[in-house]
Amino acid sequence: MSTAKYRSVFTAATAQQRKENFDDYWIFTQQHGGELLEEEKDLLKKRARLQYFKDNPVKLRTPLANPEAFYRNYVDMVDDPASLDRMTLMLTGIYKFARHEWVGIKGAWDAVPNMANSLTVEDKISRVHLAEEFCHVRLFDEMLKTCGLDKVEWVPLSPWKEKVYEQFPKFPGFLMDTPAFVTELMGVTFYCHLHHLFNDVLADEPEVCARLKELLDEITIDEVAHVGQRRNFIGGIGMKVSKWLVKPFYTMFFNDIPEVAQLFDVPQMIKDGENFDFNELPDYMVEKSWIPSYCKA
Ligand SMILES: [Fe+2]
Ligand SMILES: [Fe+2]
Repeated sequence: MSTAKYRSVFTAATAQQRKENFDDYWIFTQQHGGELLEEEKDLLKKRARLQYFKDNPVKLRTPLANPEAFYRNYVDMVDDPASLDRMTLMLTGIYKFARHEWVGIKGAWDAVPNMANSLTVEDKISRVHLAEEFCHVRLFDEMLKTCGLDKVEWVPLSPWKEKVYEQFPKFPGFLMDTPAFVTELMGVTFYCHLHHLFNDVLADEPEVCARLKELLDEITIDEVAHVGQRRNFIGGIGMKVSKWLVKPFYTMFFNDIPEVAQLFDVPQMIKDGENFDFNELPDYMVEKSWIPSYCKA
């Protein structure tokens, strides 16, 4: 007999269950992030949390030996990745992952209705969801600043790639919902693996290691909730498609970031995505996050 508390994220749900879960998520997300500051693409509670980190900075005991290696490779990898130290690879890899997120949400923010024009609970959820994603980019930026990298710029992708990202949210739901869900799942997988990597790369930097984990936890708690929320858009066939998409999607996305193959076990990440069921997450994270009712055993 299984004692697992949660079921697979790919567990089937009825239309009625999904409707109830949207209502429940909407209640959760409003208290979780606090008031939406639409002009600033921000949320009141999240802003306060970031300010706390900024007001209580920590620094590396030993500053980066070669920040130029970071600045040379963070937007595009120009050196042979095998020639770079793991700290530099980790930091350029974080930037590249976050940059994809930033480009995606920039396009989506202008494509979805603002709060005043959000008529359904789903629209309202999507607006707050995007504001949370902007908060994540600020938290990633704070991670880099914590490592002494205060000259980082957020650089747009090539014009045609930006166009692709801008069109994506305008697709009809039956095309857009499955990749959007798998993207959130990929985020959680990446952050869980990154959390482990901090222990390894920052073994001699306990203060910065603890701080980067705190910053990452803020993001991961939101992303776990996003996984359930995006899953909630999807019916039976879409759920099968989603599970099938994990491998090609993760493979394609991580191939685009040369740091990932150097630092992470991509086949294991794919397995973790396909088997994701919330049970491996620490309790303190689950308590602050949100899980669909039909994924609870
Ligand atoms: Fe995010
Ligand atoms: Fe997300």
